[in-house]
Amino acid sequence: MSKAKTNAAIAALDMVEDGMVLGLGSGSTAEIFIELLGEKIAHGFKVQGVPTSQGTADCAKKFGVPLLDPDKVERIHLTIDGADEVDENFQMIKGGGACLLREKIIADSSEHMVVIVDGTKMVKTLGAFALPVEVDPFAMALTAERIYTALMQAGCKTASTTLRQIKNGKGPLVTDGGHYILDCACTSIPDPRLTASLLVSIPGVVEHGLFIDLADTIIIGEEEIAKVMEIVRE
Ligand code: 5RP
Repeated sequence: MSKAKTNAAIAALDMVEDGMVLGLGSGSTAEIFIELLGEKIAHGFKVQGVPTSQGTADCAKKFGVPLLDPDKVERIHLTIDGADEVDENFQMIKGGGACLLREKIIADSSEHMVVIVDGTKMVKTLGAFALPVEVDPFAMALTAERIYTALMQAGCKTASTTLRQIKNGKGPLVTDGGHYILDCACTSIPDPRLTASLLVSIPGVVEHGLFIDLADTIIIGEEEIAKVMEIVRE
């Protein structure tokens, strides 16, 4: 278990109050948080979680975190999630774990989003991490062509798209929602906001991994401490 990720998760736990409904993110850092949350719940702390993936739901059950059906939730106080890249404006790339659609639905419905990362995820410009784009399998080659054009229009210099495959298996990875992921290697995304708006207007794109204006707190875990950074959004 990475010490930096664990320190970020510990700092996030401090922001959770008794009685809260939490969006539970996906990925290894979110799972560390869920394990720590489970320990606190075992000592009488009362919170409920809304999972952002089947993997997270399984993890929450394992560590005794009570879950709520997203359709029965009135309010989500806080979502805690990881990220693949975070820039200095708190814009992010997510979806390395293929859960970006449900992560975005829950983050967007939350009052606050706290992102827990280690320092390797902090970047000046997004895009070294290939941007995951969740697509409908129907006519995917046409959608991929439109994605390429959109990325070029948004100022990316290159944009090769690769259909994500199952690890150690044959065939494309299928997301919890039944879609495919195209990983778009752009090297650099100079205008994340424009890129996001162009991608979302392509009919075959179900969702993309650019998380714009969603995070208001970033916790960067280091070997010994965690640094908390906040942004005030209008
Ligand atoms: C999953 C995600 C994860 O938050 C992201 O991939 C970070 O994962 P990790 O905490 O394992 O580094 O977006 O879709």
